[in-house]
Amino acid sequence: MRLADRVALVTGTSSGIGRAIALRFGREGARLVLCDVTQDVREGGEPTTALLAADGIAADFVPTDVSREADAEAAVAAALAQHGRLDILVNNAAIGSGKPLTDCSLDEWQRVISVNLTGAFLMARAAVRAMRAQEPRGEVRGRLVNISSQHGIIAAPEDVAYGVSKAGIVYLTRQIAADYAADGIVCNAVAPGKIVTGKGGRAAEPRWIEYSQHRTPWPRLGRPEDVASAALFLASDDASFITGENLLVDGGWMAA
Ligand SMILES: NC(=O)c1ccc[n+]([C@@H]2O[C@H](COP(=O)([O-])OP(=O)(O)OC[C@H]3O[C@@H](n4cnc5c(N)ncnc54)[C@H](O)[C@@H]3O)[C@@H](O)[C@H]2O)c1
Repeated sequence: MRLADRVALVTGTSSGIGRAIALRFGREGARLVLCDVTQDVREGGEPTTALLAADGIAADFVPTDVSREADAEAAVAAALAQHGRLDILVNNAAIGSGKPLTDCSLDEWQRVISVNLTGAFLMARAAVRAMRAQEPRGEVRGRLVNISSQHGIIAAPEDVAYGVSKAGIVYLTRQIAADYAADGIVCNAVAPGKIVTGKGGRAAEPRWIEYSQHRTPWPRLGRPEDVASAALFLASDDASFITGENLLVDGGWMAA
């Protein structure tokens, strides 16, 4: 129970990596506020709240489009209203456009940036405001875990807006870490390599799966649970004196 009694708000929890993070955090004792635009599960199965309930874990679902300022504010307000504080924010919700520069419309660019980057900014701003106003637990007032990508460090094949948004997340992570360390705010990121989720389209195309297998030294691709374990570490008190870090969970992709 590494998150016993901690209040954790996680975005993009209905599917994939966010769902695995919600399930893991719930099983580690966190009090959960789950945010997403839908409760539909891309990979199929019961909604995340129902899976948690089956384990006897209560979680509030707050319908949230992270790119909307009012939604982001309302999600953090819901956590405070329900639990009186916010210990952990995980910025996980994201989309891609699958378009290289010359094919990417302004609308596609703006949608990806507004969900992935502006969404993380809005959620972080609301969360850090709340965290700064609350009593610390030990030396920490609150922890942020941003889900970035190895494609925020190296080019994202044929997805300019996604790659730029993820590079922005890596920067945002460092900026928040530096600006609010004195307030006891810890801010880190997890940079997944190729993680197999229920995402269809481009993510599941054989040419991209083969490309990822070729790039990943570890003899399998990633699982959502691999990312959830790293997020758990960074959200827990085990991660002490670590802030501004972007932790790769990529089976060695970036080492090779
Ligand atoms: N899967 C991978 O290989 C991989 C690799 C690197 C990084 N990532 C990152 O991991 C995170 C999760 O990716 P995933 O593969 O689980 O994706 P996914 O598409 O399976 O899940 C994304 C979730 O975010 C939700 N979402 C989308 N737009 C939203 C919005 N505006 N507001 C709130 N919720 C919204 C979706 O409904 C969905 O539940 C993302 O940040 C992604 O960039 C994934």
